[in-house]
Amino acid sequence: MNREEHPGHTDGGAERLVGATADGEDTAVEAALRPKDLAEFVGQSKVREQLDLVLRAARARGGTADHVLLSGAPGLGKTTLSMIIAAEMGAPIRITSGPAIQHAGDLAAILSSLTEGEVLFLDEIHRMSRPAEEMLYMAMEDFRVDVIVGKGPGATAIPLELPPFTLVGATTRAGLLPPPLRDRFGFTAHMEFYEPAELEQVIHRSARLLDVEIDAEGAAEIAGRSRGTPRIANRLLRRVRDYAQVRADGLITREIAGQALAVYEVDDRGLDRLDRGVLDALLRLFGGGPVGLSTLAVAVGEERETVEEVAEPFLVREGLLARTPRGRIATPAAWEHMGLTPPRQPPASAPGGPGQPGLFGS
Ligand SMILES: Nc1ncnc2c1ncn2[C@@H]1O[C@H](COP(=O)(O)OP(=O)(O)OP(=O)(O)O)[C@@H](O)[C@H]1O
Ligand SMILES: [Mg+2]
Repeated sequence: MNREEHPGHTDGGAERLVGATADGEDTAVEAALRPKDLAEFVGQSKVREQLDLVLRAARARGGTADHVLLSGAPGLGKTTLSMIIAAEMGAPIRITSGPAIQHAGDLAAILSSLTEGEVLFLDEIHRMSRPAEEMLYMAMEDFRVDVIVGKGPGATAIPLELPPFTLVGATTRAGLLPPPLRDRFGFTAHMEFYEPAELEQVIHRSARLLDVEIDAEGAAEIAGRSRGTPRIANRLLRRVRDYAQVRADGLITREIAGQALAVYEVDDRGLDRLDRGVLDALLRLFGGGPVGLSTLAVAVGEERETVEEVAEPFLVREGLLARTPRGRIATPAAWEHMGLTPPRQPPASAPGGPGQPGLFGS
């Protein structure tokens, strides 16, 4: 993939069927699949409850909701939630993003044109420029900006009052936000990966909207391969739908879903060809490691960055691979998932037992 196009995202790329960032088709269909209010929003029960309180209280006061920060991995529903916040508040929404704001002046223009109660959605807020960030501090806190007129010693700051608004910031990298910015949000929602049962609900809902027939087991099969991410669930659903249409009678069952995703090389845990390639090399060529990242990358025939940033995060999250100071190692679960037997069974350990101390030996 061309990494330059997605500098803010490290999860892999849009052309991957199991990549969490949006590709063109996602963007086109997602608008239709977005839940429109909190009640329709599946999962994230903690975030939903907290946000519900924030919004209800603001409505009861007849005021504007506090600024909200949404943090979480790509495809978990940050943009969706921002639109829901506006809808729940009965307010218009203005959408922009950190990278789109190059100069403080760009931000001043947006802020000064907001109407009272409007929601300003600032996606990828961690990628905003420093001067814009500083202007934002004052705008968030005092609903005021200083517009600088002129240059050099003759420049003057003209204070400009803003109507109260709600800033909704979204970031995949909350850790990159400077503390002064983070502190100015009244509420931070940490979005978690979804449980399979929640993804099943997402899939059933999307199937209804797309007019696709699917049974409970078919939805469960897709959910289990969706890496905890609604965007991936929706994308896999569309690919399975294609298969069901062309090779079967349209109904998505467990069998059809399994066959379809085998064609697309997404395994029953949501690993794709790249993920499996990395594991396969680690297990077969290096006996489960430890092996250095560069060596592993050469063995897989990929760039070091691709292995590290595209494949590894999910493998680590799944407990299949661990990064250690001495290199990458496979966990016992990796051997099992790939259907391989680890070499050098330590005689003391129970046959087939989970512990493989030899793999982690110092
Ligand atoms: N809780 C949910 N219930 C139902 N559908 C959801 C939910 N969360 C996300 N989706 C679906 O997943 C898709 C992606 O969600 P969204 O665009 O909001 O993710 P995001 O967090 O903004 O991703 P990114 O970091 O790439 O901007 C949307 O089309 C939406 O339909
Ligand atoms: Mg988004």
